[in-house]
Amino acid sequence: MLVALVTGGNRGIGFEVCRQLGRLDYAVLLGARDLAKGEEAAAVLNSEGLNVSALKLDVANEQDIARLGELERVDALVNNAGIAPDRAHPDTSALLVPAELVRLGFETNTLGPYRICQQIVPIMQRHGYGRIVNVATGMAQLSEMNGRSPGYRLSKTALNALTRILADELEGMNILVNSVDPGWVKTDMGGRAAPLSPEQGAETIVWAATLPEVGPTGGFFKEKRQIAW
Ligand SMILES: NC(=O)c1ccc[n+]([C@@H]2O[C@H](COP(=O)([O-])OP(=O)(O)OC[C@H]3O[C@@H](n4cnc5c(N)ncnc54)[C@H](OP(=O)(O)O)[C@@H]3O)[C@@H](O)[C@H]2O)c1
Repeated sequence: MLVALVTGGNRGIGFEVCRQLGRLDYAVLLGARDLAKGEEAAAVLNSEGLNVSALKLDVANEQDIARLGELERVDALVNNAGIAPDRAHPDTSALLVPAELVRLGFETNTLGPYRICQQIVPIMQRHGYGRIVNVATGMAQLSEMNGRSPGYRLSKTALNALTRILADELEGMNILVNSVDPGWVKTDMGGRAAPLSPEQGAETIVWAATLPEVGPTGGFFKEKRQIAW
């Protein structure tokens, strides 16, 4: 049975990614920084007949991440957990957001996935198979880069660079690494005005997490189509 690990799986897009991968018969490890919330979310998916287990995983906690190296197998890794750190400041201008908030963005949005990949990729290499999806955003596209939200934009742009770096280093090993922009999705982060449901937001992430061997690597995708960096 294929195993998927999804970070930030207890709510929002990550929860729907867990559900959709479960429906594709993956055994899903639902990562949550608060284990009780993870167990509650997993119970909902278990009641739908899906094979989902909660895993305590704060992506900003090195000890939580170090334990991942003990996993037997992980075929698909979805680095979904994310924060919008600039929102903690009343004005999101790059001239005003404190560097400390930017640092928090990097800890969760960039270094979390970086450290997790260091634990999970060797497991994938042992099995000769892996799919890694870094959940980014259109706000990280250099070709479209606007002002404001520097903590979010910088950390997610660096996450996209991580996609490129790993895709290059893992070329030819049947471990495909891609970034996905889920679009503007109705979640706590996206807000009520967003046009897409979490189910729709999860679709391209799940597609990238289940690519065939001939699938792309080192790309940035939205609605299953490649977009500019
Ligand atoms: N919604 C959108 O419109 C949109 C657009 C583009 C990209 N994205 C990206 O999509 C991903 C999911 O976003 P969402 O809209 O579903 O956000 P959300 O509803 O705010 O959910 C965020 C998830 O990340 C978790 N998380 C945050 N920090 C964490 C940490 N240190 N360790 C583990 N989990 C952590 C949260 O856990 P807690 O419940 O414990 O807080 C929660 O499960 C994010 O990477 C986001 O940047 C979203």
